[in-house]
Amino acid sequence: MTASSALISGVQRAYDAAAGNYDRWPWQSLWRRREFPIVLNTLSKAFERPSILDLGCGTGAFAATWMGRISRFVGIDASCRMVEMARRRKMELCRFVEGDMLGKPIDPEPFDAVVSLRAASHCQDVSRLVSRARSSLNPGGLFILSDVAAEHRYEETRLPIKCGKISVPTFKHAPEQMARLLQHDHGFRLERILELRADGSKDTSTARCRSIDSSGRIPFGRIFVARAV
Ligand SMILES: C[S@@+](CC[C@H](N)C(=O)[O-])C[C@H]1O[C@@H](n2cnc3c(N)ncnc32)[C@H](O)[C@@H]1O
Repeated sequence: MTASSALISGVQRAYDAAAGNYDRWPWQSLWRRREFPIVLNTLSKAFERPSILDLGCGTGAFAATWMGRISRFVGIDASCRMVEMARRRKMELCRFVEGDMLGKPIDPEPFDAVVSLRAASHCQDVSRLVSRARSSLNPGGLFILSDVAAEHRYEETRLPIKCGKISVPTFKHAPEQMARLLQHDHGFRLERILELRADGSKDTSTARCRSIDSSGRIPFGRIFVARAV
């Protein structure tokens, strides 16, 4: 087994085990509360009814926020249980596929936008994710990637399962590395980097979220918005 196939099977196993609890996980709700409005706002300013590819789509929560405003949505995820949860939402114009988001594009048609929300933290070689996004975009298309901030005080993702937790391999990427990959290595123009920081006790009150710097000085996440040029 190669290092990258061992990594993906670790990710698969952990998310398969956690899928039933995933949408109730406080860390997840925190991210969605803070991140989804930014992503939605950015996309709706740029497009009326975009086609969207979601790399590491999980349970399809992001697609659910876009219902009625998309022309086509494809979500890819390594975990068959996460994909099953996404399909259960029965959303029109959406297709959810089990597979490696770092593999070859599965769709012949390019997309207006590619999003990858909190999946980069499971990629050791994040350049492959950026490359996959670039090759799936129309010229002028948008890539929106969110990631755990490298400075954020945690080293591994521990997902909730029925009786306890399961660890998933986690990798951090410095913002300078992401900016270089996007702009110099893969032909994007980096339009914005947004930082997510604690915003009052609502963000840090649950045990799962106490790793966040409550003073708001240290970001816990970043969102990169880049355009294919
Ligand atoms: C933290 S979850 C985020 C899920 C979703 N984007 C959301 O907003 O809820 C990360 C997801 O990325 C998926 N993932 C990680 N590495 C992957 C890979 N190489 N190929 C496909 N999916 C992957 C995991 O299975 C998991 O569902």
